[in-house]
Amino acid sequence: MNKIVERYNKLADTLDNLSCGKVIEYANIQDADVCLDLGCGRGGDTFEMARLTGNKGKAIGIDLSEKMIEKAKLFANENNINNADFILSDMQNLPLDNETFDICISNCVLNHIKDKEGIWHEIFRVLKKGGHFVISDIYAIDEIPDHIANDEMLIAECWAGAINKNDYIKYIEKAGFTNVEIIKESTPYLKKDFYIASFTIKGHK
Ligand SMILES: C[S@@+](CC[C@H](N)C(=O)[O-])C[C@H]1O[C@@H](n2cnc3c(N)ncnc32)[C@H](O)[C@@H]1O
Repeated sequence: MNKIVERYNKLADTLDNLSCGKVIEYANIQDADVCLDLGCGRGGDTFEMARLTGNKGKAIGIDLSEKMIEKAKLFANENNINNADFILSDMQNLPLDNETFDICISNCVLNHIKDKEGIWHEIFRVLKKGGHFVISDIYAIDEIPDHIANDEMLIAECWAGAINKNDYIKYIEKAGFTNVEIIKESTPYLKKDFYIASFTIKGHK
């Protein structure tokens, strides 16, 4: 089992806050929207999207950790939530059709992903024309050396996989998104010897 799955399987049974921003309030979710939450964890944001889009819409959460997905499915069953589904999958290779979603969100997940450029093509592929994304994530202010950036345990701790802001925005725009805007940014903070920060970004297909 890789270290990312190992860490998040353990965290599934805790109440720890695993987010790094507030995406839902900028997502502009409308009645009957079809919504996607990448790296949904226990499904907190997915359930909120399901509530906001109502019974004519739905929300799908994707996560790599089977314990996170189990936890989210259990909550949906126990609370009779019928318009939220959860799929165990690596978000780098989504088992989802092209042009399915009105909205894609992701909260503190993309920094874990190996293919930092490819993931944006995958998000672009599954969004409908006219759809949008809102994503909160971490970016690196200091350059993170390869031996740390490739350390699975440190990546799983939500910081070592961070890339710099210019590359981040470049990959989003290269995938084809327009009107890309940074909505919010944190003040920089230290992880080991490296300054990083979190931000929330929005863009349109
Ligand atoms: C920091 S947690 C955030 C969880 C949730 N978005 C939240 O805000 O509470 C990161 C989540 O991303 C998931 N994850 C990491 N890499 C992933 C991948 N390649 N595909 C799908 N999920 C992934 C982890 O299992 C974990 O649940």
